[in-house]
Amino acid sequence: MPRRSLRSLLPLVRAALVALLALASGTLECGGARQTAQEHRGERLFGLMCSVCHGPTGQGYAADQAPSLTHGDFLAAVEDAYLRVAILEGRGGTTMSAWSSFRSGPLSADDASAIVAYLRSYGERPPMKLDARPPVAGDAGRGAEVFTRECAACHGAHGTEGPFVGIGGFDLLRAASDGFLRQAIRDGRPGTAMPSFARRLADGEVDDVLALLRSWQKSAPAVRKPPAKLPPLPLGPLPIHPQGPEPKGFTVTPQSTKVEIVKAQLDAGARMALLDARAPSDYIGEHIAGAVSVPFYDPDPYFAQLPKDAWLVCYCSCPSAESGQLAQKLLKAGFTKVTVLEEGLRVWKAKKYPTNSGFEP
Ligand code: HEC
Ligand code: HEC
Repeated sequence: MPRRSLRSLLPLVRAALVALLALASGTLECGGARQTAQEHRGERLFGLMCSVCHGPTGQGYAADQAPSLTHGDFLAAVEDAYLRVAILEGRGGTTMSAWSSFRSGPLSADDASAIVAYLRSYGERPPMKLDARPPVAGDAGRGAEVFTRECAACHGAHGTEGPFVGIGGFDLLRAASDGFLRQAIRDGRPGTAMPSFARRLADGEVDDVLALLRSWQKSAPAVRKPPAKLPPLPLGPLPIHPQGPEPKGFTVTPQSTKVEIVKAQLDAGARMALLDARAPSDYIGEHIAGAVSVPFYDPDPYFAQLPKDAWLVCYCSCPSAESGQLAQKLLKAGFTKVTVLEEGLRVWKAKKYPTNSGFEP
């Protein structure tokens, strides 16, 4: 009798032993594959600062125009340097901020490398062999015809004003190799809107398009580098019009308030604060006149300085992903008069409403 019950216990004991061994060797951690400490740090930073636009797993398009960063082909074709430069220097003329501390952003070079390591952890394939020949026989004039016909609908007439990634942008082109661009055009990015042109375009036509892209790169203006000053930036006097009346027509987030209403209430002398939710590098570049910099990823240090009894209008230009996150964090911290500027800075600028640059509100 005791012998029999012992034997029936054996499988249980064995299972417990296996589990113990697995735990000791680390393969039983939740989440499956094991992360290095660097990848873990990269994941934390990505969740805090990047997922708002690129999505929680870097799949892209949580906000307008932010491409996938974890697509298998992209990762197999892209070099670390391309990723690092994009992260640290940003992409001028787009909502992709310069995140480097040299540009008054929050990230060190090590932080950027940690994010790259995290993104790399999504890549299952070895680096692709790219066709790196320079497009010597390519003709920019012929390329322009192909581009207008095949590419402009998605990437814009000059490669920067379309609904998707700005392939005509100076910062993208100076970092992208011919092999990288050629691969994207020929093979596309399966699973995204980017089609393969391997059948639609002859090799010569692809080189024509490459020649066109390189001509845009040459004629692009030099990037303006704002002075380095580490955040948190000083907030300046708050609110605007401290003695003014309560603004009319503002609605608490998750509702947003139209730019025309905010502008009219500012002109009427209403009491409010304008909070720029983007990375400080963007704020220094250009912000709404009177706004202060309160980055969405780390607003806590500013809470004590923000007025509880005045409306806080959050904005960004993506057009409302970062401002939406900031607004949520303000509500959680106990602020109640919180709204988001509908359509954000882009529409404010399109209406030629006043803006400033530099550190002054
Ligand atoms: C139907 C829409 C569409 C068309 C047409 C299109 N693209 Fe794209 N393209 C995209 C999208 C979307 C992406 C980003 C894919 C992603 O998120 O991974 C992309 C990415 C790219 C990239 C890679 C950029 C990067 O940063 O990774 C290049 C280069 C490119 N396109 C060039 C072209 C060229 C040249 C043409 C015309 C011959 C063209 N595309 C036509 C939608 C399009
Ligand atoms: C406000 C939205 C937004 C946030 C936040 C953001 N990005 Fe971007 N990112 C973009 C957009 C838009 C682009 C495409 C820019 C272009 O057209 O060249 C981009 C491009 C990139 C690229 C180049 C991709 C390519 O295919 O060329 C990388 C790498 C990148 N982002 C990484 C990051 C990382 C890492 C963070 C966080 C530290 C981050 N981004 C935060 C919007 C954002």
